Amino acid sequence: MRAYSGERPERRPVWFMRQAGRSLPEYREARVGTAMLDACLDPALASEITLQPVRRHDVDAAIFFSDIVVPLKLAGVDVEIKPGVGPVMGSAVRTADDVARLRDLGPLTPQALQPVSEGVALTVAALGSTPLIGFAGAPFTLAAYLVEGGPSRDHLAARTLMHADPATWTALTEWAADVTGAFLRAQVLAGASATQLFDSWAGSLGLADYTAHVAPASARALSHVQDLGVKKVHFGTGTSELLGAMRDVGADVIGVDYRLPLDEANRRLGGTTPLQGNIDPALLAAPWPVLEAHVRDVVARGSVAPGHVVNLGHGVPPETDPTVLTRVAQLVHDI
Ligand code: CP3
Repeated sequence: MRAYSGERPERRPVWFMRQAGRSLPEYREARVGTAMLDACLDPALASEITLQPVRRHDVDAAIFFSDIVVPLKLAGVDVEIKPGVGPVMGSAVRTADDVARLRDLGPLTPQALQPVSEGVALTVAALGSTPLIGFAGAPFTLAAYLVEGGPSRDHLAARTLMHADPATWTALTEWAADVTGAFLRAQVLAGASATQLFDSWAGSLGLADYTAHVAPASARALSHVQDLGVKKVHFGTGTSELLGAMRDVGADVIGVDYRLPLDEANRRLGGTTPLQGNIDPALLAAPWPVLEAHVRDVVARGSVAPGHVVNLGHGVPPETDPTVLTRVAQLVHDI
């Protein structure tokens, strides 16, 4: 938390996006017989899975085990997570009528979010002094799933809608902002120490579209936790051209993907914003000397920013050898 505030603690902090998940045999065992979204909504199981990588890797933060589509599900959207595919909707949201039907579901209430609040509270109690990071998907990434009906490569239907029918697009992203903002708020109220907004697909947008059609909804999502005083990390992939705009929606820390060296990210942000990142996940499978040199380079470049939390430049690949992650965390602490 001190590094997120721009301080330089004596121990350089490190955690890994997707540290809870398929790279861990204990995760695969815990998940046998339970569908992904059912696991997310089982407070004891979600808490146990959140704690697994903290026990194993000696990382400096936990990230709550859940998914960006959990608040959609709790709001009443027909969504499931298909193994090897990702979130899939019962039907795509394409028209003004479709969006009106979504809005008729009403706001996402604290009662509906109870399994999330309970899972977070259990986790925070078990973590002791290790902070828990809460997270949510940004409105654009959620809207991309809703409009496409599932994963897509270029998010064409979503990008068409924002121009073809801007009023419907705005109604959709404002609804998504409030649902995802309520999810974020519930996690902080239950004890999460910081938050991260994932706009995984924002990299398919140019700066002009991002600023005009996406940034206002992301600012609205983050406004749901503004009064709670927690630091807000904002991360996307392929977003090297958007870093300043992503900071300006109200983020305190920028998560940088593996494409842009941290010293260059720091330059683009004017040297004022703590950074998180950005070990290339591909190098987790490289020989140790190659990975070690890369981690040392990331740490050196991150040293020029006002604060640095070491992380990957995107999530842990499922096939990663978990002992490599433990070794990376150890190396970062040794440096
Ligand atoms: O450790 C952590 O990072 C916490 C858990 C977490 C998950 N999803 C668990 C999960 C987080 C932070 C997410 C966020 C998420 N979910 C994002 C944003 C981050 C990113 O990767 O860009 C996105 C785009 C999603 C949507 C999603 N959910 C995808 C694309 C997938 C993968 C589908 C597959 O099988 O390849 C999921 C499923 C998912 N979310 C899994 C986990 C551990 C795998 C499900 C399983 O084990 O069966």
